[in-house]
Amino acid sequence: MHFDAIGRVPGDPILGLMELYAQDANPNKFDLGVGVYKDAQGLTPIPHSVKLAEQRLVEQQTTKTYVSGHGDAAFGKLIGELVLGADSPLLRDRRAGVTQTPGGTGALRLSADFIAHSLPGRGVWLSDPTWPIHETIFAKAGLKVSHYPYVGSDNRLDVAAMLATLAKVPEGDVVLLHACCHNPTGFDLSQDDWHQVLKIVRERHLLPLIDFAYQGFGDGLEQDAWAVRLFAAELPEVLITSSCSKNFGLYRDRVGALIVCAADAEKLLDVRSQLAFIARNLWSTPPDHGAAVVATILGDAELKKLWSEEVEAMRVRIAQLRSGLVEALQPHGLAERFAHIGVQRGMFSYTGLNAEQVKQLRDKHSVYMVNTGRANVAGIDATRLALLAEAIADVSRL
Ligand code: LMR
Repeated sequence: MHFDAIGRVPGDPILGLMELYAQDANPNKFDLGVGVYKDAQGLTPIPHSVKLAEQRLVEQQTTKTYVSGHGDAAFGKLIGELVLGADSPLLRDRRAGVTQTPGGTGALRLSADFIAHSLPGRGVWLSDPTWPIHETIFAKAGLKVSHYPYVGSDNRLDVAAMLATLAKVPEGDVVLLHACCHNPTGFDLSQDDWHQVLKIVRERHLLPLIDFAYQGFGDGLEQDAWAVRLFAAELPEVLITSSCSKNFGLYRDRVGALIVCAADAEKLLDVRSQLAFIARNLWSTPPDHGAAVVATILGDAELKKLWSEEVEAMRVRIAQLRSGLVEALQPHGLAERFAHIGVQRGMFSYTGLNAEQVKQLRDKHSVYMVNTGRANVAGIDATRLALLAEAIADVSRL
């Protein structure tokens, strides 16, 4: 038979947890696996701003014909402003262009294929650890993937080791950086650290690819864009992948963008012609609905205000869950050991729990997190923090 030689690959390390969790009959289970935000009721809500924009679209949208290869122009303009700043000189000078993609993952895939096709011979450097799909996306595009250290064996950010490795990266290679809310660790660079990375990137003529999947979940919508804007202002060429999955709650609608900053407007057009060609061969034209929702929200002062407040409420809740968990661990004498959970930013915490402890958490306590010890803090039920702390304390004795 044709398919006889086809073997089976293991399930996705993150999405696979959704199925395991769904099958668990324990009413006290915790879903700290896939990175989705949950509210106090344990639901991943559709923001009100999104619902209102969708209603408007149903009434006012007149066609479902294709959008262009770079996506909807209004979406592109507004995402460019959200990421680079409304008064960005790059946008004014047409040095930055937005290509709408199916989610942030689509933007990463597009950039991987772009590097493979248009910048042959360049390697890609990822943080160790990083989101596991970074590893496979760039490898599948045929690129050589290498790593720079990010977190030490003590589960603390190790900037010195990161900088030492970056200083030896071959000239011209691509360095993937997480703009904020590092996935999986939750450890972010300080502004001083970013300046040091920038210095090396400039000296070694590296091409930064900044993954920006969690704008608004770290310190705020504007604050989280600080490093992206610094790099875009200081360097002639930058790639940025942006996602609307989390901050707009549009996970399944697949909304993202690849933003290219080029040295001048003419060069940008060259690069964009390549991107349109590659995208045409990947998904032809991007899906419209989610991007139209985003454009409707960002293009309307009232909806944008409502949305900004909704993002801020999610951000504040996550921060409270972080400090709440550290507090709940206090009676177990573990507040200091897990103090980093309060320092980390965004949805994820690299807890420092090892694979065996994660397995025990799942098997004995129905607490689901990624094998590497990554917990989605945004999935915690605040009313059961004590129960979660007890479970963590139990496996911490291992
Ligand atoms: C995660 O890391 O859990 C999220 O980015 C969702 C995903 O696609 O893996």
